[in-house]
Amino acid sequence: MPKKIILDMDPGIVDAMVLCLAAFDPTVEIVALTSVGGNVPAETSAKNLQALVEFLDPPRLPRLGIGSPPDEPPSLDYRHIHGTDGLCGVDLPVASRRSAHPAEKVISDAVRNDPENVMLLCLGPLTNVARAVIRDPQLPKMIRHIYIAGGALNGRGNITPCAEFNIYADVHAAKTVFRLPCTKTLVPLDVTESMELLPNHLENFPSEETRLGKLLHHLVRPALHNYRQCYGLEGMHVHDLIAYMVAVHPSWATTEELPVQIETSGYLTRGMTIADRRSIPEFPRNIEVVTKIKKKAVLQAIFQGLDRSANR
Ligand code: BDR
Ligand code: CA
Repeated sequence: MPKKIILDMDPGIVDAMVLCLAAFDPTVEIVALTSVGGNVPAETSAKNLQALVEFLDPPRLPRLGIGSPPDEPPSLDYRHIHGTDGLCGVDLPVASRRSAHPAEKVISDAVRNDPENVMLLCLGPLTNVARAVIRDPQLPKMIRHIYIAGGALNGRGNITPCAEFNIYADVHAAKTVFRLPCTKTLVPLDVTESMELLPNHLENFPSEETRLGKLLHHLVRPALHNYRQCYGLEGMHVHDLIAYMVAVHPSWATTEELPVQIETSGYLTRGMTIADRRSIPEFPRNIEVVTKIKKKAVLQAIFQGLDRSANR
């Protein structure tokens, strides 16, 4: 039976790649697809999500939800990597705006439709999920599992010296979600930065002769260039794809249950994810943290999944 999943994302290059892969993954049923502001502002993220769905034209159209900006919009985003349009200038035909509903409502409806059977995969800031549970306080009991791409447990962030971007971009939402009484798994930078997609990996991507192959090459090449320019890295990180693989293949991840809290203020520390590793922690163990992944299997599954989507 395919896993029922809500994909909450901020496309963004790697979020877009997740959608390209997941839309035709037979092991997954996307029951809802929601956009959130993050890599790019909420409006751009919504437009990109709709354009991608239209481009991919999946056999079963999931319900679409549109996220609105967080209450305290962050001053930083990831346009230096993803371009001002979030998709490195790939000019996808502007989607005719389907009447999309607020993301928090779509999340709540999708979970309530099949209680205890729907997982949430959060690939951007946690704005939509926090709003969904504030709107519908009974919801957490009905969510099967929340997978979160975000956080940094070793103290090294990516958007500030100690904060990871998805957490930093809406700290209050993150605080709410980390405290929810449901099973949660965090896929932090500690593991997602241990793997890079390298320029020569493009050889394993679907050929540019295919429609999807062409799109993927056009997304990834400029992103690789931007990673090199901004960070001096040879390859790029694929945080969101790794989180997807952990959600779909949990046995590829080693995890540790930890008490983790979010720092919501602090000139230097805002957005930090802090684990209390003392033998008697001050707060309860609230989240399973991925500490290791099977990198080879993940990389292989990325190539295979993209190939399957290109050749469907
Ligand atoms: C996260 O931030 C975004 O730039 C990526 O899409 C990923 O979700 C990594 O910190
Ligand atoms: Ca993302």
